[in-house]
Amino acid sequence: MKIIRKSIAPPPQNFVSFPPEEMPVESRGDPWTILVVDDDPDILAVTRISLKDFHFSGRPVRLLCAGSAKEALHIYHSEMEIAVALIDVVMETDDAGLRLVKTIREEIKDRTIRLIIRTGQPGHAPERFVIDNYDIDDYKDKTELTSIKLYTTVRSALKSYRDLKLIETNRQGLEMVLKAAPGMYLHPVNEIQGFFKDALSQVIRLCQTACHVLPHENRDHGAIQGFIATLEKGDLKIRATSEWNALEQPWAKIVLAGIDKVTATGCSPVVIAPGQVMLPLLVHHKPIGVIVLDNLSYLTDNGRYLMEVFAIQCASALENFRLYDELEGANRRAMRMLAVAAEFKDTETGDHVKRLARQTIETALELGCSEEVALEMGQASMMHDIGKIGIPDAVLLKPGKLTDDEFEVIKSHPGIGATILSEDGNFKVALQVALSHHERWDGTGYPSGLKGEEIPLAARIVSVVDVFDALVSARPYKKAWPVADALAEIRRGSGSHFDPTIVDAFLRTHRHRAELRGDVTIKEVLSSRTI
Ligand SMILES: [Fe+2]
Repeated sequence: MKIIRKSIAPPPQNFVSFPPEEMPVESRGDPWTILVVDDDPDILAVTRISLKDFHFSGRPVRLLCAGSAKEALHIYHSEMEIAVALIDVVMETDDAGLRLVKTIREEIKDRTIRLIIRTGQPGHAPERFVIDNYDIDDYKDKTELTSIKLYTTVRSALKSYRDLKLIETNRQGLEMVLKAAPGMYLHPVNEIQGFFKDALSQVIRLCQTACHVLPHENRDHGAIQGFIATLEKGDLKIRATSEWNALEQPWAKIVLAGIDKVTATGCSPVVIAPGQVMLPLLVHHKPIGVIVLDNLSYLTDNGRYLMEVFAIQCASALENFRLYDELEGANRRAMRMLAVAAEFKDTETGDHVKRLARQTIETALELGCSEEVALEMGQASMMHDIGKIGIPDAVLLKPGKLTDDEFEVIKSHPGIGATILSEDGNFKVALQVALSHHERWDGTGYPSGLKGEEIPLAARIVSVVDVFDALVSARPYKKAWPVADALAEIRRGSGSHFDPTIVDAFLRTHRHRAELRGDVTIKEVLSSRTI
């Protein structure tokens, strides 16, 4: 199948599938390269004349001549691809040709090139001995090698070479698809951009391999380029591009105009313009994205099949991302609902938990936590007081000083929160925070009197930001503290109430926010997770 590229042209009105292929012979590609190794100039000349108008599979041959095994090896190393070598035996030494065969097969380990021994002195290299001991593909006596026999021999060798290359290319392509698949599924869910970049480079490599069956065919243009995009509410969102200006054409219009028509063909690549192919990404027969490739010249049936397999894998991995994100979104929403439920029991406002989440994330990041871990801690922080649901209003909302018994009741809220959150394994960090946010670095906190790093990191962070936010917030029984006073109070608690490392990180985030970054909303941080 061929895609003839002339120039960037507007897309056709109707998308068309690859047509059945019968190419004009002259345009099907570069010549087959044949190396003729012989120290007899007459043999070289006769061979040249005999193969002058030779064509195989629509491609002519190109002869390279060497007068010795040494020269042949030099040519071999300087050429990209030699399909067949016709090798004399007796040249600079009695077995120079046979040594050349050994070098190519055993040292260079080229198993694809077809090697034909052509000797005028069979006494030096008896056929049976040579065939038994050297990895050659044919043995010919020069005296019997007429022009027509040479034609038959070379044709047969080229056919064998072409088929071997096809098998090798298919093997490589399939290996690429198989190797790419696990990587797609194992891509960290918070690195969707990396997934798109990898998927695009893999499909381009696959095309390069699939196009390599017939080497250098009609590649009078640059490397294969392309982009990968998702379909978002009727619009096209380009996710990754190669080093190519994907905005060169109105892709949204082009893709959206044809996507419904091409989905009928499954994930098969479809020609949308000369040199340009669209690879739909389908889930349950519905398009969720597309890969567009430019500068393609030639695709074999097998290449097309490999691209289709790749597209199926890519679409499944993308759907996996979407489902994971949906699940994570549902978890986030459940967490917020729990947090809101807890606030109804308290005098604090909803803003408290939002500020808490933001400052927890910033502090965790400042401590060197990954974005994913920091986000999980931020979400968990919103439920630190979920256990207050179980505290009677008479105690929780009492305006005056609490009695010892009443304070004991208040001290039960971490345990109640942990019990609520233990219902679902997805809330593991939230459970740690709810249970341990009133523990103190010096071991004098509650409910368990944990000390130092016995207290989970997320709980140590929330402990700092919760106290700070409580100090700077106005409550029915107190005015809001000035920020500077609250920061000083936090600093005073370093090493006794709070983990000193976390206090330092927390104070740095305040400096950063004030001096460098301005405010960052939790929504902005969390929105970086959505796809
Ligand atoms: Fe609390």
